[in-house]
Amino acid sequence: MTHSVANILVVNSKGGCGKTTVATNLAVAYANGGKSVALFDCDRQASARQWAGARDLDLPSIELYHRPDPAKIDPGIMARYDTCIFDSGPGISTQPMLRTEFEALLKLCDVIVVPMLSSTWDIQAGKNFVTQLMTHRVWRNAPKPIAVVGNRISTNLAGQQHLQHFLRCLDVPAVSEFRESPIYAEAGDRGKGIVELKSNRAARKEYKAWRTLICWIDEKSRQAKSERLPGIPLAASHSKSRTEKGIGDAATERT
Ligand SMILES: Nc1ncnc2c1ncn2[C@@H]1O[C@H](COP(=O)(O)OP(=O)(O)O)[C@@H](O)[C@H]1O
Ligand SMILES: [Mg+2]
Repeated sequence: MTHSVANILVVNSKGGCGKTTVATNLAVAYANGGKSVALFDCDRQASARQWAGARDLDLPSIELYHRPDPAKIDPGIMARYDTCIFDSGPGISTQPMLRTEFEALLKLCDVIVVPMLSSTWDIQAGKNFVTQLMTHRVWRNAPKPIAVVGNRISTNLAGQQHLQHFLRCLDVPAVSEFRESPIYAEAGDRGKGIVELKSNRAARKEYKAWRTLICWIDEKSRQAKSERLPGIPLAASHSKSRTEKGIGDAATERT
């Protein structure tokens, strides 16, 4: 079974909410599903580059490009891959000096994934970010599907209900939730994603949530692809179609 794959922007102005964690884990899931994957590290702090530097060469390959200025990303390079994943830095929507970077990323992507922590402060910052995103001129000119993913989920139920209500009003889905777990740091330190920690029970418990996010991305890519004019394909259309294993398969290990 083939999967349509989109170019995915992982973004939130808040630092530490899990952008690099989500971007690297998505890259790993797609690479293990047989896709050719480019991970664009658009953060000056270059955490994804460090992550890629720790990755064993015998694992499925992920090409890392450090591009602090996404306006300089060459579409010719992007076209070589089934999927391009953009890991953005903090402050992208709030710092005026990052305005062109934010615009460039909004233009390059097909879908947008917004990781969000569940504290009251993070939810407030996340709401502000989603508002800035959806009122941005570039997004309004060419709206791209947005998914919020809860990360390091705790028991701030009131805050989460508040967030759910806000997202429903904007018609933005809260697609998935990832638990607070040391396996994320463990995988990150080894240049891995959690779908590569198959013998780890805590990692396997997370697979369902990742599968849910990947299914949402796949569905939105298929829709974007069918709506796109002929001759302006998604990166997936340039696919060299390697093993074409289903992405879900990479995250469908025993739970
Ligand atoms: N679900 C999680 N459970 C536990 N730790 C997490 C989780 N998600 C991220 N982390 C840790 O939180 C820290 C910040 O995450 P990171 O992905 O670097 O955030 P950002 O890129 O938004 O700054 C990292 O040390 C990472 O390992
Ligand atoms: Mg980061």
